[in-house]
Amino acid sequence: MVVRIRACSLNHRDLNIISGNYSSVAIKPEAIPLSDGAGEVTAVGQGVTRWKVGDRVAPIFVQRWLGGNLLPEYMPSALGGPSDGVLAEQIVLSEEGLVRIPSHMSFEQAATLPCAAVTAWNAALVKGGLQPGHTVVTLGTGGVSLFSAQFALMIGARVIATTGSDEKVERLRELGVSEVVNCRTTPNWDVRVRELTGGRGADLVVEVGGPGSVARSIAAIRYCGHISVVGNLAGKATIDPGALFAKRASMCGIQVGSRDMFEAMNRAIEVAKLEPVIDRVFDFTETRAAYEYLAGGKHFGKVVIRVS
Ligand SMILES: NC(=O)c1ccc[n+]([C@@H]2O[C@H](COP(=O)([O-])OP(=O)(O)OC[C@H]3O[C@@H](n4cnc5c(N)ncnc54)[C@H](OP(=O)(O)O)[C@@H]3O)[C@@H](O)[C@H]2O)c1
Repeated sequence: MVVRIRACSLNHRDLNIISGNYSSVAIKPEAIPLSDGAGEVTAVGQGVTRWKVGDRVAPIFVQRWLGGNLLPEYMPSALGGPSDGVLAEQIVLSEEGLVRIPSHMSFEQAATLPCAAVTAWNAALVKGGLQPGHTVVTLGTGGVSLFSAQFALMIGARVIATTGSDEKVERLRELGVSEVVNCRTTPNWDVRVRELTGGRGADLVVEVGGPGSVARSIAAIRYCGHISVVGNLAGKATIDPGALFAKRASMCGIQVGSRDMFEAMNRAIEVAKLEPVIDRVFDFTETRAAYEYLAGGKHFGKVVIRVS
């Protein structure tokens, strides 16, 4: 299967890979960067049944993880590091490693989905078990956190979001998140979450922070609540099992998601006509500037690269 890539998007992971701070799985020397993209099928091999020329597609993050549980032997097939990625004009993938993109989305919008959106879907709705009427806490305004907030609002759940920036407080409100805590001026945001939930605590935290924030996440959830551990923006955290036990809470690690999850998510996105939050689009020739912009941390949502 040959796919002409029309747009890519960046994730925090892509910064970790180029700085040598990515330890999940071995990186292929000189791998083509980026896991996330969208484009159209331009050629199919003999025996291909899932796709035809012209179909609008996006690759799945872990190419071999189609459904069921993730197995460690699938991990080397993750794009943009362990395997060659999508920052290219054309790529060749197995027909199994693609999903159809939502029909209302541009290629630039769809390029935001494979890592950040699928991770949020898994962390909030699959492993996180978020239900209408539940309360979820999202941390910061990066790709995973904003998709988590959008999916929660989409199903009628309540979102309490943190951000370190006053300007981003307003942007979260524009997105429909009415309860926002500035974690720079209110570092003990867990106390504020308990206040906002009448002392009960949130049902779920989508945890992207790491040190400092994991202990607050445990403090912020309700008795028997859940924490989906997605990232460690502030470095590696230690976990106090006593605090987790005292809440009878559960915690699980998230690795993006399977093709089945991506397809289920796209069906929901299509019904809801959900629009990803894109902060800025760079040209293919401005790739370095796009990386630098993401590293600067001023973004709200996704940073996209237009390829062709
Ligand atoms: N496990 C997985 O499968 C998986 C998948 C995707 C991402 N991740 C991980 O999840 C994390 C988020 O990824 P992303 O791509 O969504 O990130 P991103 O788009 O780069 O967003 C990061 C945002 O988080 C906030 N932030 C930055 N530094 C922080 C810190 N030290 N403590 C708390 N918040 C901070 C900032 O928001 P404000 O300015 O609003 O505060 C920033 O804009 C990363 O650690 C990434 O590696 C893991």
